[in-house]
Amino acid sequence: MPGVEAVAQNISPARSDGLAAILAIGRANPPNIVEQSSFADLYFRLHNSEHLVDLKKKLQRICDRTAIRKRHFVWDEELLMANPCLRTVTEPSLNARQKVAITEIPKLGAAAATNAIAEWGRPKSDITHLIFCTTSGMDLPGADYQLIRLLGLNDNIQRIMLYQQGCFAGGTVLRLAKVLAESRRSARVLIVCAETTTVLVRSPSVENQDDLVTQALFADGASALIVGADPNAGEKPVFSVFSTSQVLLPDSDGAIGGHVGENGLTATLHRDVPAVISKNVGKCLEEAFTPLGISDWNSIFWAAHPGGRAILDQVEERVGLKPEKMWASRHVLAEYGNMSSVSVHFALDEIRRRSAKEGKATTGDGFEWGVLFGFGPGLTVETVVLRSAPISA
Ligand code: CAA
Repeated sequence: MPGVEAVAQNISPARSDGLAAILAIGRANPPNIVEQSSFADLYFRLHNSEHLVDLKKKLQRICDRTAIRKRHFVWDEELLMANPCLRTVTEPSLNARQKVAITEIPKLGAAAATNAIAEWGRPKSDITHLIFCTTSGMDLPGADYQLIRLLGLNDNIQRIMLYQQGCFAGGTVLRLAKVLAESRRSARVLIVCAETTTVLVRSPSVENQDDLVTQALFADGASALIVGADPNAGEKPVFSVFSTSQVLLPDSDGAIGGHVGENGLTATLHRDVPAVISKNVGKCLEEAFTPLGISDWNSIFWAAHPGGRAILDQVEERVGLKPEKMWASRHVLAEYGNMSSVSVHFALDEIRRRSAKEGKATTGDGFEWGVLFGFGPGLTVETVVLRSAPISA
């Protein structure tokens, strides 16, 4: 009779030889689009708050400074009119928010996943693991279960549901997917991130003016990635996931938070968030890239979470980046706003698409190595080192 270790070794599948790689990227946004230049007018009208003239001017000032051109939302005028509790500041509204989020988040995620699976080109029955991540709505069984039902995925898929992580989670999901993909050669991990501001839209208030920044920044969307190691014939790695790390920044307690109560999710964003992040990014870069002998941050491609224009500006200045290095994050911020965990995946998609379109040598803007940064509550920074793939002529 063999020992239990030998039995376990026999039944555990072979680990991968190579690094986990992103094999496909899909994305989706809800159809309701609001131009940032008209957001203050729309928001104050829908919330019957036109009399708060100074507050509206302040929101317009903030919107003008966001560098956002448009945002997509699950909510629209009809939904807000049908749910008057979403047009108050403090009235209990969690039930109404939950109802929308637990229906719409799996649907939005399924739309992005369908696009990723189509690009991947393999049968969906080959998906062995699912990581679903959202900060919008909670339920049992969760959005992961709903997605399996919507897409008809295997019942024995190995699921991880991540609720309430916040914006850094675009990096977290890659950190987890790397471990799963490299632990088993045939593992194919479907990552889905989906977010909706339906959980936080509320009326303006003189008492809580800071909430205007939240209303001006956040937006709705979904991303999906397929991650696996040792690609099979027909699978085309877009980026390899070389290393991952997570760190809590010093002296940053409470700088970003999100508190769920009867009136929905209320975010706290301290004014020094851009300064704290930018002050610490250099150390994250050094720790991640010293093993590769890289110290010139302009010699890598960049996908930093576009949490706000000031964050990108201050990181760029602090680490001495050329203006064009942050183009993908700035483009995603401009065209979609801050979609929390989703945004960095949109940035990766933009980078590989533009690289192909412009005839670059690699998927990473022509560079071999790149960084993905997730920033969020804690303050937490997720650093993911990516290796691009060559683009054949
Ligand atoms: N909270 C409240 N008010 C703020 C604020 C903040 N964090 N930052 C700026 N403001 C106010 C200013 O006081 C100012 O108000 P007045 O006009 O009444 O004086 C107004 O916003 C405009 O400020 P500025 O003219 O100084 O403009 P700016 O260049 O600072 O741009 C901004 C404003 C676009 C909001 C910019 O400050 C920014 O991008 N900040 C970063 C936002 C941020 O923290 N993002 C992280 C989001 S969290 C996340 O992504 C992760 C997650 O998990 C949720």
